[in-house]
Amino acid sequence: MTTYDWLNRLPKAELHLHLEGSLEPELLFALAERNGVALPWADVETLRKAYAFNNLQEFLDLYYQGAAVLRTEQDFYDLTWAYLQRCKAQNVVHTEPFYDPQTHTDRGIPFEVALTGIDQALKDGREQLGISSGLILSFLRHLPEEAAFRTLEQAMPYREAFFAVGLDSSEMGHPPSKFQRVFDKARSEGFLTVAHAGEEGPPEYIWEALDLLKVSRIDHGVRAAEDPRLIDRLIDEQIPLTVCPLSNTKLCVFDDMSQHNILQLLEQGVKVTVNSDDPAYFGGYVTENFMALHDALGMTEAQAERLARNSLEARLA
Ligand code: ADE
Ligand code: ZN
Repeated sequence: MTTYDWLNRLPKAELHLHLEGSLEPELLFALAERNGVALPWADVETLRKAYAFNNLQEFLDLYYQGAAVLRTEQDFYDLTWAYLQRCKAQNVVHTEPFYDPQTHTDRGIPFEVALTGIDQALKDGREQLGISSGLILSFLRHLPEEAAFRTLEQAMPYREAFFAVGLDSSEMGHPPSKFQRVFDKARSEGFLTVAHAGEEGPPEYIWEALDLLKVSRIDHGVRAAEDPRLIDRLIDEQIPLTVCPLSNTKLCVFDDMSQHNILQLLEQGVKVTVNSDDPAYFGGYVTENFMALHDALGMTEAQAERLARNSLEARLA
């Protein structure tokens, strides 16, 4: 058996995946055609060539542009179903994907359109593919607090469709503290919380996510390594980090995979997991992320098994 096959067969959970980031160029073009949306790229190859980023913001600019082809409930169903097929092929037995309601409501798509399509696909995934799941509704942190409050309000009639709220988009200059009140409200309504922190932002943002947003997991969190006291806390409290190796190298958080700190964190006792973030844009799904750690860092079988076990233990839904 090849290493790839062995990694592929390991039972895994995926805990950091943006559904909009699983929109493959082929489906993006097909949906543009179906919906009569004009695209600035001539074809799939031209679009793929545009997937070269120097930082998070350069990626986000393209990611929001790509999401504009998603217009109908069927589009969101097809997007989610395609992702679940990837899960099936890679033995991802459980997934907790994010979606960004504001990316769609801000361009005039009614709130329920995206959520209904995604929810139906996740239900079918449970019944037809045996993949358990829980959806995380993520707020865009570059937008104001009031916009997040409005989004939470719009979501309340559909509260059974998601179990947690998250925080994503441009990290620098948008600390978790900006959303303390909205997260208080979400928790009072019974939702769990997670947040992107310490991807590009400093360790202080991770402290804020823990202390102010009371998160159950940190998304990314790789910059925690700069703060020994924070590392001690993550270990003591066994707070999971949803790390995304290919994302981190594509967005230049690390210059090269050989510089990535995930295995050091694992050996220190931090509960790290491997995830794909935006696989259509970053060159692979979960197995490709594991494979990159094998190729660049010499990840052992025992380490891969611990990373996979961590992902199953860090599930919240
Ligand atoms: N939205 C989609 N992917 C993201 C990432 N890696 N960081 C922040 N926001 C995101
Ligand atoms: Zn992310």
